[in-house]
Amino acid sequence: LNGANKAGKTRNIVQKLEESDKNFIIFYGSQTGSAEDYASRLAKEGHARFGLRTMVADLEEYDYENLDTFPSDKVVVFVLATYGEGEPTDNAVEFYEFITNEDVSFSEGGTTDSAPLSNLRYIAFGLGNNTYEHYNSVVRHVNEALQKLGAKRIGTAGEGDDGAGTMEEDFLAWKEPMWLALAEEMGLEEREAVYEPAFSVTERNDLDIEHNTVYLGEPNKNHLEGTSRGPYNAHNPFIAPIKSSRELFSVRDRNCLHMDIDLTGSNVTYTTGDHVAIWPTNAGVEVERFLRVFGLFEKRHTVIDVKGLDTTSKVPFPTPTTYDTVARYQLEICAPVSRQFVASLSAFAPSEEAKAEMNTLGGDKDQFQDRIASRYLNIAQVLGMVAPAQVWSAVPFSLLIEGVNKIQPRYYSISSSSHVDKNTVSVTAIVESIRIPGAEHVLKGVTTNYLLALKQKQHGDPNPDPHGLSYQITGPRNKYDGIHVPVHVRHSNFKLPSDPSKPIIMVGPGTGVAPFRAFVQERAAHAAKGEKVGRTLLFFGCRKHNEDFLYKDEWKQYGEAMGDTFSLITAFSREGPNKVYVQHRLEEHAEEINHLLQQGAYFYVCGDAANMAREVNIILGKIIAKERGLMVAQGEEIVKRMRNSNLYQEDVWS
Ligand code: 2AM
Repeated sequence: LNGANKAGKTRNIVQKLEESDKNFIIFYGSQTGSAEDYASRLAKEGHARFGLRTMVADLEEYDYENLDTFPSDKVVVFVLATYGEGEPTDNAVEFYEFITNEDVSFSEGGTTDSAPLSNLRYIAFGLGNNTYEHYNSVVRHVNEALQKLGAKRIGTAGEGDDGAGTMEEDFLAWKEPMWLALAEEMGLEEREAVYEPAFSVTERNDLDIEHNTVYLGEPNKNHLEGTSRGPYNAHNPFIAPIKSSRELFSVRDRNCLHMDIDLTGSNVTYTTGDHVAIWPTNAGVEVERFLRVFGLFEKRHTVIDVKGLDTTSKVPFPTPTTYDTVARYQLEICAPVSRQFVASLSAFAPSEEAKAEMNTLGGDKDQFQDRIASRYLNIAQVLGMVAPAQVWSAVPFSLLIEGVNKIQPRYYSISSSSHVDKNTVSVTAIVESIRIPGAEHVLKGVTTNYLLALKQKQHGDPNPDPHGLSYQITGPRNKYDGIHVPVHVRHSNFKLPSDPSKPIIMVGPGTGVAPFRAFVQERAAHAAKGEKVGRTLLFFGCRKHNEDFLYKDEWKQYGEAMGDTFSLITAFSREGPNKVYVQHRLEEHAEEINHLLQQGAYFYVCGDAANMAREVNIILGKIIAKERGLMVAQGEEIVKRMRNSNLYQEDVWS
């Protein structure tokens, strides 16, 4: 591309910094948006407190061969998420492979220079999950590589742990000493932080949503103009019709949805084991709460133009739009609020009391934990609690765009087989509705409740719509009408053996069974065509056979096609005096499991990462050791080797 990317922008970071007169560049390696959010928070804080001229950049948009010419009066920050089995995020792959390569060479120094990056000063923070084996391995490897190349790190290499749920506090605890070290290193003076908006927000009373081209939830121009086209991906969802939806549980107090989504005509392809991303809509009640607390409810349909006030502030959604649209489709307004954001709102409190209270909550970790974090309060709930019935109209809308994360699509393991129907993806999802002890509200999962509302609407359910879909503006061009759902597909490595005659063992309690419905469906289809299908063992667990036994009747059909090659082994945890889990069943079937593994069986685990998947991993090592007369450590070693050769595959979440 000759030093320029597709849009004709430079890929030369040194040149970019010179041209834009920046001295603090923050690169992010982000998959779900968290690393990107932390990157922009560092940018804002660096500017507000130390007057740094900051910019945030996507790692994918630059080249790295000239890092050895990076000026020593500038600093580069890496905010890097570790993804899956210790992999870099998609946008960081190229950088990661470049910098960790043994034979890395740079444009000027060549390979003879032992410290080619001695001019480079950097800061590093990683986002990881301790329940996975390769905890924060991306930031660790990058840090190691940079050290080896002679770069100078400022502060410690921070690590945030999503598994322990301490990401935010890990970040806050890491960044304070880092700022001090940076100030010392660069001779910076801390100044009284004044808020400078990143965006201008202009109300356009000359425009209205009926007659003008205004974004009301459409993700881009083609969608707005009704000419959406592929490729459909993480930047451009396909607005898919819902084919059918049904309830899978036979209890009243909990819901588990099955939804078939139609990909016909989209050119979106998937293979069995992939994930589907659902682009959610915030609940109507939450949108209203948010708009009311900031005094925006009355003018929610006013058309607004939002523009970046700086060449590097990118408006995270298309404009012109409306306040309602931003709250409903663009920002993660239901997410638990961060302590730093609470602190940053205190300056705009409607009264002195409210201001003092916000400073307390924002400044005191324990109070914040007790009163806000432990109850998962979102921003509007916090402000409503701090100053009931008062309107926070002094809060600049720009601050909300900057401080509330951009809404993210949620990924689900596809529960249908592409071999059986390439135009349908199925989703299997428990509708999250959790009563928080000590709080008067019920915490509702944004996306699963959105899907539930879609199902109710599709069925013409007489129940009042709890998600508040009916608050939506459903104009003629707005496809977010309650019977379509915006989606895209993400490919995964969780795959059936290409040869169906190979044996497989699957462990999937609860909704962990989702991809295994697809696997079994696919093997049943092979068997029905007379192809040879290997032994197919499925371990499934739920509370009670007559409550939450997912796809109870379907398994029989698949069994008919496959005969004795298929066995479903169930563990009902709440039927007898003792808990029975899939692990117990694995032990009971140790002999056959070991036998199948010796024949080259593939072993799959899907579901909860923190407990179940970890325990299954341990049990399997023990089973192998016991059956083969080995030491437990040797059994573990065998499981590890299975992992490395893709015979042990996980699709897990926490
Ligand atoms: P429980 O809720 O009765 O403890 C699906 O959620 C099933 O997985 C339920 O039967 C649940 O049991 C069970 N489960 C909970 N924790 C588990 C664990 N650590 N390992 C395996 N299964 C577990």
